[in-house]
Amino acid sequence: MDKIIVEGGRLLTGDVHIGGAKNAALPILVSALLADGPSTYDNVPGLQDIISVVNLLTHLGVEVRREGNRVTIDGAGLSNHEAPYDLVRKMRASILVLGPLTARLKKARVSLPGGCAIGARPINLHLKGLAQMGAKIDLQHGYVEASADRLRGAEIYFDTPTVTGTENLMMAAVLADGVTVLRNVAREPEVVALADALNSMGSQAAGAGTSVLTITGVEALRPAQVSIIPDRIEAGTFLVAAALTRGDVTICDCDPAHLVATIDKLRMVGADVQINGNRVRIQGPDRINSVDIKTQPYPGFPTDMQAQFMVLMSVACGLSVISETIFENRFIHVSELRRLGADVRVSGNAAVVRGCAKLSGAPVMATDLRASASLILAGLVAEGTTEVNRVYHLDRGYEAIEEKFSGLGAAIRRIR
Ligand code: EPZ
Repeated sequence: MDKIIVEGGRLLTGDVHIGGAKNAALPILVSALLADGPSTYDNVPGLQDIISVVNLLTHLGVEVRREGNRVTIDGAGLSNHEAPYDLVRKMRASILVLGPLTARLKKARVSLPGGCAIGARPINLHLKGLAQMGAKIDLQHGYVEASADRLRGAEIYFDTPTVTGTENLMMAAVLADGVTVLRNVAREPEVVALADALNSMGSQAAGAGTSVLTITGVEALRPAQVSIIPDRIEAGTFLVAAALTRGDVTICDCDPAHLVATIDKLRMVGADVQINGNRVRIQGPDRINSVDIKTQPYPGFPTDMQAQFMVLMSVACGLSVISETIFENRFIHVSELRRLGADVRVSGNAAVVRGCAKLSGAPVMATDLRASASLILAGLVAEGTTEVNRVYHLDRGYEAIEEKFSGLGAAIRRIR
């Protein structure tokens, strides 16, 4: 297994290019299943999760071609309605094929994704919505089976905003008979990007980005020609790294409108942030102020930025309270950060971070995607050498992260 070695103490300067958003690309690539022809997607990031979803789509019978950041998927070949355990277990977002398969093949058999390090990650709301649209749902032998001659429009309310739950039901609704109203939906930019992609294929989805989505079903969709939006979590990770190292970094090809909560918090920390079109320049503060954060569904502070921000708070001057309201177990990075000298105490869904710690390098273990990123960030400011093991977690969601960081002046290298 690869590991990444970081020597702390370097100041980051220069420009860094942000790639396409993993969490937009995954549902949008799956939405190619809804069209009976070849869809083309640009700015698709080179990530392990993208490889996983391409493998799954190929297994379902569609032809997938990749040239650089362009992916072409021909939905005409869709023939297999089963997403097997050995593919789904590699990436829980595979559950996103449930809606499209039920819509186009009238049946689906998808391995239940199960939990992961950060939480139980149930899919009850995905299934409740599909059932309300007329699908017959059976759970047996670790699989969910859904079937329906034709899904019909329904009024669906989500107990809690779920990103992939919203996306699954959007893709089920676009070919359903009648109008589907989804209430209390996720408002993430990745949900809006999916709605835009579906509408470019001829669907009628209105309200994306608000809490109510209204989708009028159509008979068929034409193939898409779509470019993937920038990854706001990759952008946020580099913004935090610049603030952490008191550097001067310009994030290029990002969408600042998706970074409002993160930029607001970084300004409260004391960083100087200048927005100029699709570029954001950040100059880290000499003194890092302690700031409280509470993760919320978009447009609140993103849970996917919580671990990264905790590193910044562990070297800030004061006390910070970090509340994680989305996932029940998303403080796994705390024990590893404490090994690097961070003073963090967890109580329930809150972590109290006492700043002014001097982090010191050590071997640490990555446990999930964003926790891995936080360990790299800690290594940038820890005194001495930090060795991050099991970086396959990192490769799921960050493309060439060590090259991008070394391009900014970090002393970082991968050992294969
Ligand atoms: C998406 O996961 C993202 N993944 C996650 O990013 C992100 O952390 C999460 O949204 C929250 O923003 C993708 O988009 C592929 P949820 P998702 O359903 O859709 C509860 C990363 O690092 N819930 O929005 O699985 C659930 O338990 C990953 O890139 C139900 O109770 O998250 C959680 O508490 C990690 N029942 C809350 O909703 C359901 O049926 C939000 O989960 C579905 C969800």
